[in-house]
Amino acid sequence: MNRYIINGGKPLHGEVVIGGAKNAALGIIAGAILTDEPVTIENLPDVSDINVLLDAIAGIGATVDRVDPHKVVICGKTISSVIVNSEVIQKIRASYYLLGALVGKKGRAQVAMPGGCDIGSRPIDQHLKGLRALGVQCDENEDENCIYASVSELHGNGIFLDVASVGATINIMLAAVLAKGTTTIENAAKEPHIVDVANFLNSMGARIKGAGTDVIRIFGVDSLKGTEYSIIPDQIEAGTFMCAVAAAKGDVVLKNVIPRHLEAISSKLEEIGVKVEEFESGTEVRIVSDENSRLGSSTVRTRVYPGFPTDMQPQITVVLMLGNGNSTVTENIFENRFRYVEELRKMGADIEVKDNKTAKIHGVEAVHGTKIDVPDLRAGAALTIAALSADGTTTLDWIDYIERGYEDFDGKLRGIGADITKETVNDEKP
Ligand code: EPZ
Repeated sequence: MNRYIINGGKPLHGEVVIGGAKNAALGIIAGAILTDEPVTIENLPDVSDINVLLDAIAGIGATVDRVDPHKVVICGKTISSVIVNSEVIQKIRASYYLLGALVGKKGRAQVAMPGGCDIGSRPIDQHLKGLRALGVQCDENEDENCIYASVSELHGNGIFLDVASVGATINIMLAAVLAKGTTTIENAAKEPHIVDVANFLNSMGARIKGAGTDVIRIFGVDSLKGTEYSIIPDQIEAGTFMCAVAAAKGDVVLKNVIPRHLEAISSKLEEIGVKVEEFESGTEVRIVSDENSRLGSSTVRTRVYPGFPTDMQPQITVVLMLGNGNSTVTENIFENRFRYVEELRKMGADIEVKDNKTAKIHGVEAVHGTKIDVPDLRAGAALTIAALSADGTTTLDWIDYIERGYEDFDGKLRGIGADITKETVNDEKP
């Protein structure tokens, strides 16, 4: 188990370079195995979820050449097995992308039921509905904790998603690119990483139109070719640093960002008194949070893109926890994403959660360091921000969750003046 020791109360100043988008990278790595030619992926985030997925595809025979921490060359030609069911892969959510990719490539897959953060029930019925519509027989085997999928030939079809699921949209794209005929996904998710995965697949020769809108059309092709592709910057990592500066105060420039992807977060921060400045370069934003004044209050509701992202809900709650006045944060995507509030209360926050859905926040002037635990990835980032903003020292246990999605989080924070150190306590992993 790893932990952070954080001495709070130090404003943040300097520059942070944002890495590649984890949730795009997961779909892109799975998509890379669809061709027998080498695929080069750049701007890869060096985080544990990515490394688990790379190990999983290497485990079924793909060639995975990690040129450097942010660049990998993958070749799916050597894939010899369709069984992906190790103990480690069971811990990540994106194992489900290997279902779509392997039925596309091999017509068969046996993949572990997806794990991931415990933030709600997280069903995969829409993934299975989509794959079945393409002709795939999918059977869930509870005893073996995996899904069997097989198809003799994939056929394009019309699919209306009951919920605009990110995972289902990507999974269906992965399977449909090599199907016969045209697939239409209606009520598709529109997040930036959907567009990035579609752009990546198109660079391999796929024909996907409409990614980023509600309706995606995929015209099946016979085969895909190798490509070189650079992943978009991580919207959530950028948003997390924006909230860190807002709460802990200071003046920081974030480099390698796409400001358009940050608009829901920027506009909420500006509403409560944070200055968000875009530069002409179009790849940087500056965040200024005045040390001598308190931020205001707001109402936040998580929504699918372009609404306020659920993956930023814990971080904005921490910012509002220190604001002047009463705020409300409503979670509309997942049922169980407020577990971190109990930890914030230990620090002195005044937050009440109703029906696991709405946090009523009564802003306090200060919170205080104590010993707290990380319950999941984004909550862990939010608790780190709380500790940076607190008086005194916070011990934050189980930061292994944070390392699933943030590369060198403590190092990047130290680089802008945070007093944060990492300790390894023993070898256990969450
Ligand atoms: C992706 O999860 C991300 N994970 C999540 O990021 C993110 O929170 C989420 O999208 C929403 O943006 C990855 O990309 C690996 P969904 P996913 O399918 O695909 C319901 C992080 O911190 N639903 O868009 O699992 C579901 O229960 C993580 O980086 C169904 O009902 O999310 C939820 O209420 C956490 N049936 C809603 O849809 C399904 O078949 C959205 O889920 C699928 C989803």
